[in-house]
Amino acid sequence: MKAIRCHNYGAPSTLTFEELPDPEPRAGEVVIETEAAGLGYVDALLVAGRYQVKTPLPFIPGSEVAGKIVALGEGAPEALLGKRVMALSPRGALAGRIALPALTCIPVPDNISAEAAAGFIVSYCTALYGLEECGKLREGETLLVLGAGGGVGMAAIDIAKAMGAKVIAAASSEEKRKAALDAGADIAIDYTNPDWRKELEPLTGRKDVDLVYDPVGGDFSETALRCLAPGGRHLVVGFAAGDIPRIPLNLALLKRCSIVGVDWGGHIRANPAANIPLMKTLTNWVSEGRIHPEPAASYPLAEAPVVLQRLLDRESIGKPVIRFRD
Ligand SMILES: NC(=O)c1ccc[n+]([C@@H]2O[C@H](COP(=O)([O-])OP(=O)(O)OC[C@H]3O[C@@H](n4cnc5c(N)ncnc54)[C@H](OP(=O)(O)O)[C@@H]3O)[C@@H](O)[C@H]2O)c1
Repeated sequence: MKAIRCHNYGAPSTLTFEELPDPEPRAGEVVIETEAAGLGYVDALLVAGRYQVKTPLPFIPGSEVAGKIVALGEGAPEALLGKRVMALSPRGALAGRIALPALTCIPVPDNISAEAAAGFIVSYCTALYGLEECGKLREGETLLVLGAGGGVGMAAIDIAKAMGAKVIAAASSEEKRKAALDAGADIAIDYTNPDWRKELEPLTGRKDVDLVYDPVGGDFSETALRCLAPGGRHLVVGFAAGDIPRIPLNLALLKRCSIVGVDWGGHIRANPAANIPLMKTLTNWVSEGRIHPEPAASYPLAEAPVVLQRLLDRESIGKPVIRFRD
């Protein structure tokens, strides 16, 4: 099978294209023939060796996959053979085939492509868990999404609109703001403009927002927190800007707001059953056409290093997906 491997942490351009033996399924596992693999900022950090946890070398990058089940290990349910599924794996998605526990495979809803399914689980589960369970988002509330043109940001826009929120998308470039508006945001602002807070009132009719969805961190977080209305919630999702902000805690008191950590991965590791109702809601919403996870673009495997580099360089738009078929 074709695969990409990381032998040394560093620039994605140092990844090697290899021909490797197909994986053999162990007891309880299935082999998925990869149709598409989703990539995110964390995958790029793992290759660069800059993530908080290091993956032992050598490894095949990529942690989200969609494809068809083509082989079963002992004890894996026969009914799975030939089924189209999506799944998460700590590594290994940038390969023609991957062996995974049968229990981790989720059927792909009929009305979405393999590309959409491969980019779905992480960003959409994080968004639904973050907005519904952690943020208690209610219909009619106003949500500010930071990094709104990235993969995690665009999923949050889609989920928030499905939940009946008004969405303000904050992003650094015209192209990202357009992508966020296309994903359903009501308004887009340029949060690299130092006075961006002043843009809120003329655009929305109010000076504040009810929730902030923050996968970015850095200097953006404090300004966003200052936009919260009394009772507002600032959802801490990630630190793509690199710097972990140190927020003056008196702001939470003065604004009578909450700062809430959203760690979907930690949540389901602590309680694996918790993801079942989340995925059920999400796949129902996909089937009903309430959310729209199709990625803006997909790329052939040969472009995977470039796609990973774009994530590191803040140039990626939406959820990038690598396709394994033409
Ligand atoms: N908490 C959870 O459960 C969870 C789950 C999944 C991912 N995450 C986190 O969510 C974050 C976003 O992931 P993603 O896959 O959506 O990434 P992404 O597609 O690259 O989007 C991140 C956005 O952050 C902004 N950004 C600001 N400074 C940046 C910098 N120096 N480098 C890169 N981006 C920068 C960019 O938007 P602008 O250019 O518009 O500023 C970019 O579009 C990551 O930190 C990831 O670890 C958290």
